[in-house]
Amino acid sequence: MKHVYLCTGHELKIPNVVNSDGLYLIDDKGKKYMDLESGVWCTSIGHNNREISNIIKKQVDSLMHAGFCYSNEIVEKSAKSILNIANFHNGKTIFLCSGSEAIELSRQMSQHLTRNQVSLTLHDSYLGAYASITDKSRGWHLFNWELCRTCPNKDKCLPTCQRLQEIPQNVSEFIFEPGSSSGFVRFPPQALIKNIIKIVRENGGKIIVNEVTTGIGRTGKWFGYQHYDINPDFIAVGKGIGNGYPVSATLISESVSNQLELRPFHYAQSHQNDPLGSSIIHGVIQYIENNNLISKAEQNGMYLKHKLDALIDKDIFLKTRGRGLMVIVEIKDKRTTNDIYNNLIKKGFITCNRGTALRIDPPLTITKNEIDDFIEALKESTSHNKSFHTGAANCAAHVKSTL
Ligand SMILES: Cc1ncc(COP(=O)(O)O)c(C=O)c1O
Repeated sequence: MKHVYLCTGHELKIPNVVNSDGLYLIDDKGKKYMDLESGVWCTSIGHNNREISNIIKKQVDSLMHAGFCYSNEIVEKSAKSILNIANFHNGKTIFLCSGSEAIELSRQMSQHLTRNQVSLTLHDSYLGAYASITDKSRGWHLFNWELCRTCPNKDKCLPTCQRLQEIPQNVSEFIFEPGSSSGFVRFPPQALIKNIIKIVRENGGKIIVNEVTTGIGRTGKWFGYQHYDINPDFIAVGKGIGNGYPVSATLISESVSNQLELRPFHYAQSHQNDPLGSSIIHGVIQYIENNNLISKAEQNGMYLKHKLDALIDKDIFLKTRGRGLMVIVEIKDKRTTNDIYNNLIKKGFITCNRGTALRIDPPLTITKNEIDDFIEALKESTSHNKSFHTGAANCAAHVKSTL
């Protein structure tokens, strides 16, 4: 990779993947890797999904892209299907190209409507790659909910709490990431979120849910916010909705759509509402529905978490967190995590290395047998660390006893 500029901050581990099939990537030597990271959370219904490939081929053979003044009925059909799964029946959709763009556009629309310019989010949210979002030194209020995790009033969340009082009145929108927390799979308490939303709404602000990772069945519901009993104004969807193709969507509620009728908003980029991306979204939603993958994600996610919980020994594996097929296991330190992660790759299993944790977010199509195969590989990949640790502990005990 001499001529490719790599700047994601991630090391290239398998330089030549030449094929893929469902849960697996296959390299140029024919080695298969179980991809428990779904690319970058993207292949929600598996690599090289034949139904989606056929939809893509058919659409490419007729119309990929039309332009601002021309369209195709698949765009409207797809908009209806994505609004339907979000219960935004009379709302509107804009099809875009990335999760970052879907969030940025929701934010711009909120600020256009509220005429305020302060964005609110939780301190550990990840909202995309754009400078407007990565640079939070101006125009942002970050709500630090670290202490809320252990607060004795966590389930009630007292409105008189100082932190809630500090939320500025001129917040244009609260952007809520329901459960990924920069990929660390943390779930902010419902009572806290409801209180924040109440304050923001009372001051005329909008609610955006960032469903780029948590959406499209990942958490065992269509969207992560559906675990929270809240009604957002915008839903930003990306990653899994394209199953690997770069398409995303901003969903706009009925009431905000009506406000935009009265106060029109302008935004135009070349691939907005492209027929190809729209056809893929329509296909992915149909595939998930036809194969009952939302409830499978819930059930298999519980199975995976249960299997990981059984490995918790407070020695190497410290604890797990998860919702649906978004599960993380915390590990005692960075070196051990790295070791296990690399051992797993050697054995043909790809997980996400989050420093002192491994995250597992496989395609929703994963089966219990495949989960079992992974758990066996994880145990084997850890045995070296265990014997090392036990050996070290025995050695320490021996030293103590001989003193
Ligand atoms: C929670 C979350 N939001 C937004 C984004 C941005 O999406 P994209 O990389 O498609 O622009 C990401 C990407 O990793 C994400 O994890």
